[in-house]
Amino acid sequence: MTETTTNATERSSPNSSVIGRPSDRIDGALKVMGRATYAYEHAAGEATAYGYILGAAIAKGRIVEIDTTDAEQAPGVLHVMTHRNAPPLPVFGPPVTPTVPEVFTRARPMLATDRVRYYDEPVALVVAETFEAARAAVGLIRVHYEREAGIFDLKERLTEAYTPRRTNAGFETDSAVGDFEGAFAAASVKIDATYRTPFEHHNPMEPHATLAIWSGDEVTIYTAAQTLANFRAGIANTLNISPERVRIVSPYIGGGFGSKLIIHADTVLAALAARILERPVKIALTRQQMFANAGHRAEMIQQVRLGANPDGRLAAIGHDVYSATSRFEEYCEQTAVFARSLYAAPNRLTRHRLVSVDLNRGEWMRSPGEAPGMLAFECAVDELAERLGLDPIELRIRNEPVEDPERRVPFSTRNLVACMKEGAHRFGWGHRKPAPGSTREGRNLIGYGMAAAIRPNFIGASRAQVTLDANGQVTARLDMTDIGTGTYTILTQIAAESLGVPMSSIKVELGDSRFPRTAGSGGSWGAASAGSALYHACTALKEHILETALTNESSPFYRANTDDTRFAGGELRIGGRSERLADLVRRIAPLGFEAEGSVGPASETDGYKAYSQHSYGAHFAEVAVDCDTGEIRMRRLLSVIGAGRILNPKTARSQIIGGMTWGIGAALMEKTVLDPRHGHFVNHDLAEYHVAVNADVPDMEVIFLEEHDDKANPLGSKGLGELGVCGAGAAVANAVYNATGFRVREFPITLDQMLPILPLTGI
Ligand code: MOS
Repeated sequence: MTETTTNATERSSPNSSVIGRPSDRIDGALKVMGRATYAYEHAAGEATAYGYILGAAIAKGRIVEIDTTDAEQAPGVLHVMTHRNAPPLPVFGPPVTPTVPEVFTRARPMLATDRVRYYDEPVALVVAETFEAARAAVGLIRVHYEREAGIFDLKERLTEAYTPRRTNAGFETDSAVGDFEGAFAAASVKIDATYRTPFEHHNPMEPHATLAIWSGDEVTIYTAAQTLANFRAGIANTLNISPERVRIVSPYIGGGFGSKLIIHADTVLAALAARILERPVKIALTRQQMFANAGHRAEMIQQVRLGANPDGRLAAIGHDVYSATSRFEEYCEQTAVFARSLYAAPNRLTRHRLVSVDLNRGEWMRSPGEAPGMLAFECAVDELAERLGLDPIELRIRNEPVEDPERRVPFSTRNLVACMKEGAHRFGWGHRKPAPGSTREGRNLIGYGMAAAIRPNFIGASRAQVTLDANGQVTARLDMTDIGTGTYTILTQIAAESLGVPMSSIKVELGDSRFPRTAGSGGSWGAASAGSALYHACTALKEHILETALTNESSPFYRANTDDTRFAGGELRIGGRSERLADLVRRIAPLGFEAEGSVGPASETDGYKAYSQHSYGAHFAEVAVDCDTGEIRMRRLLSVIGAGRILNPKTARSQIIGGMTWGIGAALMEKTVLDPRHGHFVNHDLAEYHVAVNADVPDMEVIFLEEHDDKANPLGSKGLGELGVCGAGAAVANAVYNATGFRVREFPITLDQMLPILPLTGI
């Protein structure tokens, strides 16, 4: 790994700016010592019972008979729950919730009926004294099913596709500007290409796990959650109790990637069983169970149509997406939405269509929309560049819009061209030979590829509380989560800088639903949303302290009359006087100070309404393709990022290289294979579902451009967690094309896809 350059840090004056420093994770030591407690590790003493879930062996049909006698009599078994004896729960609602937020909070009943809706759907829960006893007893349950034929194949069913009411996150299903069909037909240079992306699974290192403990009629749920408010409301709605009776605790989370935005079977069933048994109950999904029960990215077919004038200016942009969706709960990934903002063209068309299949619902998976959408679209742009005889960067520059092409509002900040130019310079793009297959090193054909990145910036309604005590200790509390992204660290930096105190004086407490509600971690909105709320809380705290300092007779600043006030160096400084905050608090407010701050939602902020807000980037990839075996090896990846102010270049860089690694996976490896007879994800573990591992990940470099987006939020930052994924796979795929002259439009580009062109010696 090479160095990360961050102009933002260089610019900042060392004394005033804590934000922008590459601080180490403050929770890093705890994690490497094994002292950060994850959901399944919370201890509830010997009373703890362990649950194990039995999943359905059919994808669609009905349970005719379920015999639990042997399981109930097995050693250590405390309870066996099936649809016959489970407590009555609300019925599962319609496939589409009335409002967008309700999809996150709706009741998700388990073991509620004899119907089976997808393969491995929970049909029974065994709770026992030990995990092993529960698992063994599950094997003794006999289920007889009445099986119905299911539908699983998207490609065969395109004629049955329907138009959803909206896409994920509430984006419009379709958009149209000008006359796409007419302009595309008339364009002198065209690309009309269809790409396929497979089912994919996000599998965080930490599986979905829950410990539920009832005390009277209140339940405390230790779990792995990205957004506590969703879990609290989801459990309350499922159990039909008031949210005040539900406490969610999730201080450390071993990755989420969108799979921990809503409750799943572990949480619901642990809460139910713990109430029945009046004992703490722990349940974790197994790795294999996660494939059916914790969300996936749906299979898609995308048609990208680009029509250009001979000079490379786009006349027409069309992006049509067909996606599989669960029959019982719709999820329409916003796959073509980015195409509404990325490039200029007078005639435009984006559409999303769905085909119902008998699978569990798709869920948010890292960079929903852009991950599959840009993988296809940015390859099509590369195909167009070749047809035009233009450099891919030059083509993109010629189509740089002056305002958002569909919303017709200005961009807040947009440095896509700067990202591409800086990247070209640093990567040595000038050495690329445009003619495919023209660079050879021994057995390898070498290719360069690039792609753009775009991802919307967002703010979710969030509140934060901050206190200062008489020891000078600052405590920030919010129900925000740190899913491995560095939230504890950047919030500490924000509070330290805002209050002018060292980071060591700040304690950030997250992951408890008793703390003020935030938007949690998701959609790359976490840092901006929770961070801005905390920033406002710190501002309110300073105002509160200052006012008291000027009006309290015990204060050294009593009746001071000057505008020269400053919080710095752990002191309050007014005029020529200064006082340590701890001493000041002891004198004027021995019980300490407390303040709250809030932000959002985006739809209510002026900056969001009046500006098109996105983060941008440019990815550059170099691959080597073995001309005899077709093996593709990554050699280099470089990403240049323009995402507003970088709060912490070290944790930000980790986010981006994580995303770039997802890009490698999407381009070359990741695919969940669905058995079309049984609706079963076959390669449902990390031995068979291939993700890029260390040996697949080359030298990576991340460059952050200096940027401050004053329209986005008071910090000047924009979301970047998911930006690294967006377009990264296309850069890799374009490099494979440049190496071989062979365009694979069905992802991932695995070895078998290369067979038709082997050996590559003829090139
Ligand atoms: Mo986001 S899909 O919660 O990584």
